[in-house]
Amino acid sequence: MECKLKVPVHVSIIMDGNGRWAEQRGKERFYGHSEGVESVRACTAAAEKEGVKYLSLFAFSEENWNRPENEVSSLMELMLDSLQQECRDLCKNGVRLLILGNRSRLSDRLNSVIDNVVAKTSGNTGITLIIFMSYSGKWDILQAAKKFAEDYAGGLGSELSQMETGGFDKYLVTSGIPDPDLIIRTSGEERMSNYLLWQGAYSELLFVDTLWPDFREAEFHKALVEYSKRDRRYGNHK
Ligand code: IPE
Ligand code: IPE
Ligand code: MG
Repeated sequence: MECKLKVPVHVSIIMDGNGRWAEQRGKERFYGHSEGVESVRACTAAAEKEGVKYLSLFAFSEENWNRPENEVSSLMELMLDSLQQECRDLCKNGVRLLILGNRSRLSDRLNSVIDNVVAKTSGNTGITLIIFMSYSGKWDILQAAKKFAEDYAGGLGSELSQMETGGFDKYLVTSGIPDPDLIIRTSGEERMSNYLLWQGAYSELLFVDTLWPDFREAEFHKALVEYSKRDRRYGNHK
């Protein structure tokens, strides 16, 4: 018997395994990345249907810039094309899109398409879809620390000494977004790869063997079933 489904507010996914998925089929890695876009669509619809409020996806890490130039440029092209193609459906489905990460490393063209799609979907009231692009957890903490230092450069000593961790959250790029309840990583790898290091402090972690292009509605539902069995204690006990 299935236990009652506990629906997380925020589900986050490290979308991994596109290259292996393509290689298993004797194809170029790009084929896997492109098929992965289908999984993004499927999981967004599944998350919305299940009642998840925020779905965040790790699409490209700061470390991924070190990949061969042709892979990086095809991933950037894919992002650009997908954003342009999806804008209409995102609006039709009430999806609010956010793109978070080190935007200064993205091309002007990609940045302007991002600005356009984000603006067009900003009034949507359905699920919030967050794509982490050129993101890393350490980068995020460092950029937050820099903004923080600027704010406190003039003194404010007593305020600073009373500050709690929640006061630092607003400097992160995820300001205003609840921390992920569940972080899923596909493809069998069991590591964070510099993802949401601060925000994931108390996330439930789920590692599944499925490669990202095969991770669709049924796998998403299975992940929520697994999450429902977890007992979140936050350092306390019953
Ligand atoms: C995830 O798939 C997509 C990105 C990191 C951009 P990979 O490209 O890492 O696929 P594998 O891990 O090599 O199979
Ligand atoms: C993590 O996957 C980054 C994304 C999914 C965007 P990688 O494939 O880059 O991670 P490592 O290198 O195996 O840790
Ligand atoms: Mg990988």
